[in-house]
Amino acid sequence: MEVVRIRARGAAVGAAAKPKVVLGVSGGIAAYKACELLRRLTESGHDVRVVPTDSALHFVGAATWSALSGHPVSTEVWDSVHEVPHVRIGQDADLVVVAPATADMLAKAAHGLADDLLTNTLLTARCPVVFAPAMHTEMWEHPATQENVATLRRRGAVVIEPAVGRLTGVDTGKGRLPDPGEIFEVCRRVLTRGAAAPDLAGRHVVVSAGGTREPLDPVRYLGNRSSGKQGYALARAAAARGARVTLVEANTGIPDPAGVDVVHVGTALQLREAVLKAVADADAVVMAAAVADFRPAVYASGKIKKKDDGGAPTVELVRNPDILAELAAERALPGQVVVGFAAETDDVLANGREKLRRKGCDLLVVNEVGERKTFGSEENEAVVLASDGAETPVPYGPKEALAETVWDLVLPRLRATTS
Ligand code: CTP
Repeated sequence: MEVVRIRARGAAVGAAAKPKVVLGVSGGIAAYKACELLRRLTESGHDVRVVPTDSALHFVGAATWSALSGHPVSTEVWDSVHEVPHVRIGQDADLVVVAPATADMLAKAAHGLADDLLTNTLLTARCPVVFAPAMHTEMWEHPATQENVATLRRRGAVVIEPAVGRLTGVDTGKGRLPDPGEIFEVCRRVLTRGAAAPDLAGRHVVVSAGGTREPLDPVRYLGNRSSGKQGYALARAAAARGARVTLVEANTGIPDPAGVDVVHVGTALQLREAVLKAVADADAVVMAAAVADFRPAVYASGKIKKKDDGGAPTVELVRNPDILAELAAERALPGQVVVGFAAETDDVLANGREKLRRKGCDLLVVNEVGERKTFGSEENEAVVLASDGAETPVPYGPKEALAETVWDLVLPRLRATTS
């Protein structure tokens, strides 16, 4: 097997301090996207060793991997035997990410086969392992693949759900490798959690995000200023902690996160329908979306025109259903954890406590909103109120920190699993 050695300029300097990532690449057409993942990992200060399979090299050659990573590249255990690479590479890693992971690679990993350097590395690694599968829809849906994925998840690996979209050839469906930037996000979060087990593995969680828009006519709507960033942070955090995540988003315009099933909706009624469908088998639901309390009573099918008399139309509103209260009152499964958000401008805590009681949810994340607070920003500050009276303040910080705290608080409240 061909071995390409390229020493990256300055590679030795400070390399010891960098987190060590093994990028496993198996033989799928999406291998070219792993070059972008590799670039993101190296540019953000990771020491990346690429371990392709023989078939991966049909798609992207060893010279590319070696040049981009600054490390020699080999596919088998017989190169540089004195360095015992089949053991060392896995043992030394802080994270192994396999992208793309083919159906064959998932099968080998699930059954502990070790016939090349990558599969040996997977057996010797004691660090977190992330698989980003990519394959045709039929192969992904095949019971053999699904059982292999379940086995890997049960053992603690993070297996990212493939994206839906254009596949090789003319086919479209589930099986696309998610966007490399999104796989990078999962890796970053998994690395941040270190050796901590993916504690939401085997769980299905539903998150709503964004703000609903209630149409008045074909060009106008009643909306709100929710950016959806907090909901996306919750969805990404849950995926990195091993959960199967359904994200119901309204009008955010944010790209779909890797490994998350995204349902796009517009109005409160559409959001309600999508959330109620998704929670049927969910362990927890977090309503981070800003749902309009009212919608226009009448939708004008043509644009509402100005009148010559100088007057303005009166818009009559009707109440939308309170989805959070409904979820809490009629839990789709016994013990399903229901989490709400409350955006308050005054008497924040008092209103929050009252809202928690009124809505009947298990946890309520209360934050203060205003002109310059929370909406659209990357940061948030909140207090999480629990139905048992516990109150957890979350200091001002990134929305992803609040997301982690929410899942930390959901975790002990989840019903026991049967598996
Ligand atoms: N929510 C909902 N359905 C609605 C309105 C709100 O599910 N029709 C959810 C939101 O997703 C959020 C929580 O309820 O999780 C709190 O929303 P908020 O607007 O603060 O509460 P309201 O019940 O609308 O109370 P207020 O009278 O303060 O507007």
